[in-house]
Amino acid sequence: MDETSKTNEPEVDHKVSNLVGGELGDEQEKKIDVSTLKVPVSSKVQARQTEIADKIRGSLRSLSNADVITRDKVIEHVGQALADIDDIESKPELDATAMDETLDRAIPKLQMYMDDVIRTQSLHKDLMAMFIGDLIDTTGPNRDTTKLFLNIEYSGVNFLTNHTLNVMLLSISLGIELSKLMEKKLTLPEISSDLKKILICNRKIFTRNELIDLGIAALLHDIHYRITFPELSKDKKFTLKEESVVERHAAESYHYLKQHFPGLDYEIVRSVYQHHEYLDGTGTPNGVSGRMIARYSPILSFADHYILGATENPFQQILHPNKLLQNMMTKDRNKFDDDILLAFIRGAGIYPIGSWYVFSNATIGVVTKIHPDAVKKPTIRCVVNSKMQAIPIQEIDMRYEDIKVMAPVSVLKLKELVPDFHKLLIKAVA
Ligand SMILES: [Fe+2]
Ligand SMILES: [Fe+2]
Repeated sequence: MDETSKTNEPEVDHKVSNLVGGELGDEQEKKIDVSTLKVPVSSKVQARQTEIADKIRGSLRSLSNADVITRDKVIEHVGQALADIDDIESKPELDATAMDETLDRAIPKLQMYMDDVIRTQSLHKDLMAMFIGDLIDTTGPNRDTTKLFLNIEYSGVNFLTNHTLNVMLLSISLGIELSKLMEKKLTLPEISSDLKKILICNRKIFTRNELIDLGIAALLHDIHYRITFPELSKDKKFTLKEESVVERHAAESYHYLKQHFPGLDYEIVRSVYQHHEYLDGTGTPNGVSGRMIARYSPILSFADHYILGATENPFQQILHPNKLLQNMMTKDRNKFDDDILLAFIRGAGIYPIGSWYVFSNATIGVVTKIHPDAVKKPTIRCVVNSKMQAIPIQEIDMRYEDIKVMAPVSVLKLKELVPDFHKLLIKAVA
């Protein structure tokens, strides 16, 4: 039976019914020189790289007549990428406080890097690489992006800084999840015997240095706003003239970077230009599709679309994250790469981490942890009753309890109706 079945719906206060903001239908089922950024490779990583390369090479044996040089380049790249990701995932998980501290430190640093790009035309590329490397190690292993959404609520800094950090974190997480997904695909017989398919998979696998480049692209993607609207707030109302600046911001960011940083990797610069392009050609500024799409663009465009769609911003109304994801899986499906969608679901779930729901135990709670092998059964924390009163926080792993998601709840409504919601929110994820 559908999880949203009305017959299972608990008695809820009228205020709760006001919060319901969507349906949970079953259709959901369906050039910086990189060498200057390189982190020294440890012997452990080197050994792992060789091990993975051997494994992949074994599955690609049937390609004996194919382009051997290309094949070997792929093997080397995949081996390096997967060894890097193993290394990232071997790092200890951060607890909530450590995660908080990392993100608190990230905000002023990010602000400084973005400001310096404008003020002194300086990229600080080595520092930027270290900064992004730190974010990779923080967000990669435990997939905990809850803080990402909370950060938007309380950090009190400029909209653009918050937005940029969120797009960076989501892009990095997607890059990691996507690489792991592609590792599995590469060993499927129908893929491993077809060099063309192997090359497509290879474009979606990222080494640590490529994840850093992806992070740099995300850091710079909206840089033109820093020039035109230095104090951009989420409540800003644009005039007609300003709206045309908004329309041009991707192209203007690209031209700014090309003019001031001619050595910046062209894949990064192109991705900035294309961060509002979609795979079906319905995006802006050029409506390009297919082969014209740069390597990091599909991830950046997915991350930007999701973050803008789910978090308060001056450009568009927001949706509940579940409803947004539902749209991305159905009516907007052709805009996005299926593998990226799948990577998102494995990392953030069908009920995306950080989103709120009414549950069948007549409480309202937030999704705090995803289990990649049971994406419809996350761990939740129930924090409010149907009368909008705080209750003792109850953590429930939905894999082991008979509790169902009844309806999505808008975080904006919770902010409006729950006394001291902000404090409660922090307590909920502590
Ligand atoms: Fe943008
Ligand atoms: Fe953006």
